[in-house]
Amino acid sequence: MMGSTLGLQVLFFNLAICLILFSSSSFAQTNCTINHECGNVSIPFPFGTTKDCSLSDDFLITCNRTFTPPKAFLQHTNIKVTHISLDGQLKVLQFIANQCYARNWTSVSDNVALIRLPDFFTVNNTANKFTVIGCDTYGSVSGNWLDRTYETGCSPMCVSKDDLLKGSCTGLGCCQLSIPKHVSYVELGVSSFSNYSDVWEFNDCGYAFVVEESAFSFSPENLTNLKNVEKLPMVVDWVVGNGTCEKARNSSSYACKSVDSECYSLDNGVGYRCSCRPGYRGNPYLVDGCEGMVASTCFQAFFHGYICDTLVH
Ligand SMILES: *[C@@H]1O[C@H](CO)[C@@H](O)[C@H](O)[C@H]1NC(C)=O
Ligand SMILES: *[C@@H]1O[C@H](CO)[C@@H](O)[C@H](O)[C@H]1NC(C)=O
Ligand SMILES: *[C@@H]1O[C@H](CO)[C@@H](O)[C@H](O)[C@H]1NC(C)=O
Ligand SMILES: *[C@@H]1O[C@H](CO)[C@@H](O)[C@H](O)[C@H]1NC(C)=O
Ligand SMILES: *[C@@H]1O[C@H](CO)[C@@H](O)[C@H](O)[C@H]1NC(C)=O
Ligand SMILES: *[C@@H]1O[C@H](CO)[C@@H](O)[C@H](O)[C@H]1NC(C)=O
Ligand SMILES: *[C@@H]1O[C@H](CO)[C@@H](O)[C@H](O)[C@H]1NC(C)=O
Ligand SMILES: *[C@@H]1O[C@H](CO)[C@@H](O)[C@H](O)[C@H]1NC(C)=O
Ligand SMILES: *[C@@H]1O[C@H](CO)[C@@H](O)[C@H](O)[C@H]1NC(C)=O
Repeated sequence: MMGSTLGLQVLFFNLAICLILFSSSSFAQTNCTINHECGNVSIPFPFGTTKDCSLSDDFLITCNRTFTPPKAFLQHTNIKVTHISLDGQLKVLQFIANQCYARNWTSVSDNVALIRLPDFFTVNNTANKFTVIGCDTYGSVSGNWLDRTYETGCSPMCVSKDDLLKGSCTGLGCCQLSIPKHVSYVELGVSSFSNYSDVWEFNDCGYAFVVEESAFSFSPENLTNLKNVEKLPMVVDWVVGNGTCEKARNSSSYACKSVDSECYSLDNGVGYRCSCRPGYRGNPYLVDGCEGMVASTCFQAFFHGYICDTLVH
């Protein structure tokens, strides 16, 4: 009898710890829990779908529910967001530039693509590649990076479709360039050298885009099937505030709210992000967002009969 009373006390004590630990990790603003998803995109703080649920207008996600499933857009732009990571990345869909010619060598379509990211957002320079597809094509990329401008480009060529190699983007029908760091504005364009007159039978269009490298592998069919593609995935970096951690710590808008969070500055002091300190997981931007390993140990103990064991003995 004594043993089981003690056991029950242990059980409730453990349950209480579990409940405290788990409720503390729930979303701080209760009204926001219903708004933290848009379609199948989950929207962790500092992002939110309303002013009240986001850190600031910079992290507002417009959830357009007239689409089924609903679509998420960054702030009030037409940049569609498909994934938000608390490690500091977003996945977005970005327009591609193209130019196509008719048999009589006149241009039938000519579209530039603009990537204009708001403050706090930049094109990730390691995960993406500027890519140009075509056999009589010059693809240009220009834009700005911090307060400077840059312009570059590359020219894929080929004389026969047999020249092209699946999976190989080295100049034959496909060329790629890296993107500088800290780029927030990019303008992409395509032009041709002789209006596709020599290659028209198998290639009548050129394309230029910035794409997540792992999401695109060149195939000879892309010379024609990219005509049906409007947007491709791209990785965007975000910072939660500008300046370095040292400066931000003194400010009322310091975003690393969890006591178990840490701050890290990005190079050149372009901004800072927060993370949970080692041994903790969760959302460093919420007051009780970082969850200790104790919680998961407790959780595991609960489901692996630890409490039953204490009851029995
Ligand atoms: C929750 O949202 C509803 C509707 O948007 C609003 O009327 C209500 O005041 C909000 N409650 C809190 C606590 O913010
Ligand atoms: C979200 O839905 C789209 C289409 O409905 C699908 O292609 C995509 O893989 C889904 N993403 C996740 C993370 O489930
Ligand atoms: C949602 O999308 C529809 C169709 O594109 C558009 O007409 C409408 O203005 C959008 N709503 C918002 C809130 O952006
Ligand atoms: C060239 O071809 C396109 C599409 O077939 C046609 O719309 C255009 O009028 C033609 N232009 C000339 C100058 O023949
Ligand atoms: C090539 O295209 C340009 C722009 O569409 C046009 O001005 C030019 O006349 C074309 N060249 C030939 C040889 O048709
Ligand atoms: C960055 O901080 C400076 C001063 O602290 C401020 O003037 C500027 O507007 C901030 N930039 C952004 C994008 O918030
Ligand atoms: C760019 O993306 C990669 C992969 O998603 C990530 O590891 C890297 O930290 C990102 N760069 C920055 C500056 O955030
Ligand atoms: C490129 O072509 C391959 C083979 O047809 C196709 O699977 C892939 O989806 C194409 N890539 C794009 C971005 O359309
Ligand atoms: C931050 O504030 C402390 C005390 O208020 C001050 O001593 C320190 O110099 C400040 N640091 C910066 C980088 O402004």
